[in-house]
Amino acid sequence: MTEITLRAVHDGDLPLFFAWMSDPDATRVAAFTPQDPADRTAFDAHWARIRAASSTVVMRTVVADGTVVGHVGEYGEPGDRQVTYWIDRAHWGRGLATAALRAYLDESPTRPLHARAAADNLGSRRVLEKCGFVVTGADRGFAAARGEEIDEVLTTLHG
Ligand SMILES: CC(C)(COP(=O)(O)OP(=O)(O)OC[C@H]1O[C@@H](n2cnc3c(N)ncnc32)[C@H](O)[C@@H]1OP(=O)(O)O)[C@@H](O)C(=O)NCCC(=O)NCCS
Repeated sequence: MTEITLRAVHDGDLPLFFAWMSDPDATRVAAFTPQDPADRTAFDAHWARIRAASSTVVMRTVVADGTVVGHVGEYGEPGDRQVTYWIDRAHWGRGLATAALRAYLDESPTRPLHARAAADNLGSRRVLEKCGFVVTGADRGFAAARGEEIDEVLTTLHG
């Protein structure tokens, strides 16, 4: 069985994160991405900002059997905290997002905790469902990776 651990984000993780988060096949799935996911300068500025905001933004690196495979974390205002996660496409379909989110929920006391997903991101919706999130609403939002407005589902994990 794969052993999943979460740890602080190291500088050396960032080139991996950038490669995964600028992979067009993955950004298409995630849909809600920066305007230009291939812009390394914007990526570095974003990660510098969120790592400096450690009192409000939590980001954890996901390690599976010793290999860095993703990240998971949360951000947002009190009462409207959102969870976020990303797994390297090379490792999709191994149950890693589900295991990583479960591990994260074990260490984060935030409840309720919310998550948004593109309505057609069925993998992410299933991960949320398996971790106890329930659908609480729907929205429309501009998905930069699709270049259009798309349907979103809003989900919540209650206490
Ligand atoms: C969404 C994502 C995190 C899933 O990661 P993963 O490690 O492959 O997920 P898991 O293996 O833990 O579980 C995926 C579940 O969804 C199901 N699934 C995956 N793709 C699916 C699809 N296209 N249709 C239906 N079900 C799907 C799997 O069968 C599995 O469910 P099961 O255990 O009941 O069989 C990954 O695709 C990713 O990182 N995408 C890019 C970033 C992203 O979308 N983040 C979430 C933003 S809301």
